[in-house]
Amino acid sequence: MGDAEFLHQTVLLHETIDLLQVHSGGIYVDGTMGGGGHTRALLEASAPDGLVIAVDQDQVAMDHAKGWGEPWMERLRLVKGNFRDLSAHLEQLGILKVDGIVCDLGVSSPQLDRGERGFSYQHEAHLDMRMDEFGDITAMDLVNHSDATELTKIFRDYGEEKWAARVAERITLERKKKPIETTTELVEIIKAAIPAAARRTGPHPARRIFQALRIAVNDELGALEKLLADLPDCLKQSGRIAVISFHSLEDRIVKKAFQLEATDCICPPHLPKCVCGHVARLKVVTRKPILPSEDEVVANPRARSAKLRVAERL
Ligand SMILES: C[S@@+](CC[C@H](N)C(=O)[O-])C[C@H]1O[C@@H](n2cnc3c(N)ncnc32)[C@H](O)[C@@H]1O
Repeated sequence: MGDAEFLHQTVLLHETIDLLQVHSGGIYVDGTMGGGGHTRALLEASAPDGLVIAVDQDQVAMDHAKGWGEPWMERLRLVKGNFRDLSAHLEQLGILKVDGIVCDLGVSSPQLDRGERGFSYQHEAHLDMRMDEFGDITAMDLVNHSDATELTKIFRDYGEEKWAARVAERITLERKKKPIETTTELVEIIKAAIPAAARRTGPHPARRIFQALRIAVNDELGALEKLLADLPDCLKQSGRIAVISFHSLEDRIVKKAFQLEATDCICPPHLPKCVCGHVARLKVVTRKPILPSEDEVVANPRARSAKLRVAERL
């Protein structure tokens, strides 16, 4: 696949590379390679002898990287896998710790634009939504087999959908007639479930439900939590992590994990003396998240909700 077919505009590129303090000879991980925008910037900034490990669970991104990555192969390691298993990926490469990690969360533009992946409510496709083609659960499984309570929770928690319960009820009714198999069928069910007046304003009525299903199918928050828990063991002293999130739930998880790891004692305040023995392993570099500039948002509207947080290993 050529560049023309894999168009993903990288978000907060310079801010990320600057804050990671990338230097020659360092070892860096891009946990979400996608179109390779951050990966290439890491390769350039760590020239002439830095090593970059680029991870993605999507085979299409991997295949694409074999093309653009060709001139870099001496210093680039491609890993098809999930960033939740970062420690294991590093171990397989014989690497103990790294100087920097970047994760630019969520989906790439090609994942949304290639209708057949089932991520988009604008393209007719099977309800798949797996970033990893070998993932256990598809959106079709969730929609047809989760009970109404589970579906409501997914739509409410991951999509912040006001009409979560109504959509869930409607799904459970419709699937009694026949399994719900395509994006178009699901869009019609969502439209029928949400009152007409509510559909007339705001974004497409299916947007939040599709986002929620995608997050659930790929266990996106679980993967992020696991990465953040393992992180201090993977970073060298003064090594940095940069996370770009697009969703308030993701940003909250990153903020809380950084705060926890930047705190010495985490005992309840009423205890007279520390019994937890917790020792800070990170320093928060960005007290407030870094947001894209107005120019970037104009050039790339997808950057609108991006938030970058950075922490450093003590
Ligand atoms: C927003 S895109 C990254 C774009 C990239 N920074 C660029 O400039 O082209 C996110 C990518 O991360 C991948 N991804 C998301 N979650 C992942 C995870 N837990 N493990 C590995 N890859 C993941 C997706 O498949 C997608 O290709």
